[in-house]
Amino acid sequence: MDKAKIKELVSELTLEEKAGLCSGKDFWRTKAVERLGIPQIMVSDGPHGLRKQDDQADHLGINDAIKAVCFPAGCASAASFNRELINEMGAAIGEECQAEGVSTLLGPGVCIKRSPLCGRNFEYFSEDPLVASEMATAFINGVQSRGVGTSIKHFLANSQEHRRLSSSSEVDERTLREIYLASFEGAVKNAKPWTVMNSYNRINGTYAAENKKFLTDILRDEWGYEGIVVSDWGAVNDRVADLVAGCDLEMPASHGNDELIVKAVNEGRLDEAVLDKACARLLNWIFKAAENKKERYVWDRKADHEKAKKTARETIVLLKNEDGLLPLTKGSKVAFIGKYAEKPRYQGGGSSHINSMYVTSALTAAREAGIENVSFAKGFDDKEDVYDEALAAEAIALAKNSDVAVVFAGLPDSFESEGYDRRHMSMPLAQNRLIEEIADVQPNIVVVLHNGSPVEMPWIDKVPAVLEAYLSGEGVGSAECEILFGDVNPSGRLAESFPLKLEHNPSYLYYFGEGDVTEYREGVYVGYRYYDKKQLPLLFPFGHGLSYTSFEYSDLTLSKDEYTEGEKLKVSVTVTNTGSRAGKEAVLLFVGAKDSEFVLRPVKELRAFDKIELEAGESRTVEFELDYRAFSYYETKISDWFVEDGDYEIIIARSAEDIRLVKSLKVKGTKKRPVKITTDTTCGDVLRYPEFTEKITKFISEYMTLFNDGDDAAGEAMSPDMVRKQFEYSPLRTVVSFSLRKEVTMEEVQKLVDELNAVINA
Ligand code: BGC
Repeated sequence: MDKAKIKELVSELTLEEKAGLCSGKDFWRTKAVERLGIPQIMVSDGPHGLRKQDDQADHLGINDAIKAVCFPAGCASAASFNRELINEMGAAIGEECQAEGVSTLLGPGVCIKRSPLCGRNFEYFSEDPLVASEMATAFINGVQSRGVGTSIKHFLANSQEHRRLSSSSEVDERTLREIYLASFEGAVKNAKPWTVMNSYNRINGTYAAENKKFLTDILRDEWGYEGIVVSDWGAVNDRVADLVAGCDLEMPASHGNDELIVKAVNEGRLDEAVLDKACARLLNWIFKAAENKKERYVWDRKADHEKAKKTARETIVLLKNEDGLLPLTKGSKVAFIGKYAEKPRYQGGGSSHINSMYVTSALTAAREAGIENVSFAKGFDDKEDVYDEALAAEAIALAKNSDVAVVFAGLPDSFESEGYDRRHMSMPLAQNRLIEEIADVQPNIVVVLHNGSPVEMPWIDKVPAVLEAYLSGEGVGSAECEILFGDVNPSGRLAESFPLKLEHNPSYLYYFGEGDVTEYREGVYVGYRYYDKKQLPLLFPFGHGLSYTSFEYSDLTLSKDEYTEGEKLKVSVTVTNTGSRAGKEAVLLFVGAKDSEFVLRPVKELRAFDKIELEAGESRTVEFELDYRAFSYYETKISDWFVEDGDYEIIIARSAEDIRLVKSLKVKGTKKRPVKITTDTTCGDVLRYPEFTEKITKFISEYMTLFNDGDDAAGEAMSPDMVRKQFEYSPLRTVVSFSLRKEVTMEEVQKLVDELNAVINA
């Protein structure tokens, strides 16, 4: 519907109808206005499948939703590093939504994985904003290509479940821009989600729903977003303030807030134009959904299950494979051990929980594939973290009498979920003990992990092979089996770092905060940005993931040796599959900034990535294009991105630690940081401007005995070099106190300062 028609419709709505449009009819539906032909539309969770509840809805998932296909959760889909695949997954979910009359799917979730403890990490993509926003872009484009909207969430700085409804995330501006806003920015600009969901928490003291700076100034005015903002379910606190800030739709139903809007308008506390704008946006969304609705649409459940399986093949990460233990030989005696071999943990708990169609376990998959000699022992139950002597004894005996033991372990539902956080990074102790005991009797042991976030692996040195299966959806068992027995070559890569222990994580000291205040004190040093700088040993670095083949990198080429802000830089690199079987490879491009004059910067940051498929022996050239943002940091002094002049490195890598090729590049920025020299500015800072060297040196040597030849007693006590170094940190005003050659007044220093400012700001 065009803008003029929408405007006309808004003008025909009564004040009460307008207020009514701004909240849900019930848990999942908007309100219709029948007399004006405004339809009701329905939204549903999301993200990695359709969770459509009909009657008696409750968003905690206690009431069953309709059957649908459970695709890999965000933690897993990001590990694919495959945009095309995630786009296809989005399209399949979009089709399910069409068939079920759902107009907008509530996802994807792009909150940054600040700590392994966040209970909802399984739903989120990455610790890196580029990976998160690129995966979200692919997913949104996929869903929306089927005429169904998405709701990118939870905006903003919602990286914990602990006190999620009341806590304030205290984050400095640069960190917000470079990390927490950045995971939304690319997706909002490039994929244009129909809706954005604001989070429950406060940001720097103000509830997300009430935060005009984020919902309007940045999202709409800076990023050009035209869709609606919907509150997270129950995230509305002060409805009138929320509306003014830019939160258009309160979900679920309002229970009295619509009346507050009407009252505020009638009492002149709320400009009706604000309400009109919100209604125009809402109508635009509602009619877009209605116009894109396809009648009598059916979806092919089996075909979607196959798509979930296909996705899972790329979301599983081979973390370790000593002496080529994997792939296993079909026909050898293999013991599948652990509850998750029979009943995999493949999704997380809470609002994203799908009532899955056809869950395949690894055990069933092996049997269906006709793989003989696979036996099973449960080993543990995950209801409680209790070591079960009988189950363990049976498993250990089976492992001992087999050629290989594959232990399907991981985090139980109670360990990680929406609504609360983990308190530690350990797996259940009973499982850790069982793994060690099996390793003692069977050196050929493989551990397959099912978890939404990193775990500590105290047994890692005893276990030659580890597969991180994450929560890879209902097809996980088939994909695991195909990888274990070599029908599929693993190509997943970690979109997050696995620290050796929780205490190494940069947010460790501050994570739970004090009461309702959580300070993000580690700043931009999230994930690998921190581990890199600290040179901390990791269990597995960001980007890590092995393959059954090998890849070599060559011919890193840059389109120029000197780059100026505003230009595009083309980077190409050749990748060759040097092994004996086909495989897929994610190629990572980091940019490293050398020491900055102005701010503290990470050693390197991911600025591009791609995934390619290569036959054995095949070579391909991968091309990237970078713009100014690849070299920028957010400069709060100018409230803008800033490219600092200097030498940078273009780094091609398999992981944050496995660097393959590096090339240096001279970079020139075009913006100026405002500089104000005062009498407190240090002489060293002034001397950074070459144009001032002569003036300052002259000024100082006129008054101070600094650049002496070292012949006299003072010179012996302090060499010219020592003096020069001390002087570096002396404010200009100190010349007054220490002038020896000739008296100088503060007025004269101020005169010099004025002259310098005049030159610098000319
Ligand atoms: C969750 C959202 C979800 C909504 C509706 C909230 O509690 O935080 O992610 O979309 O409920 O179920």
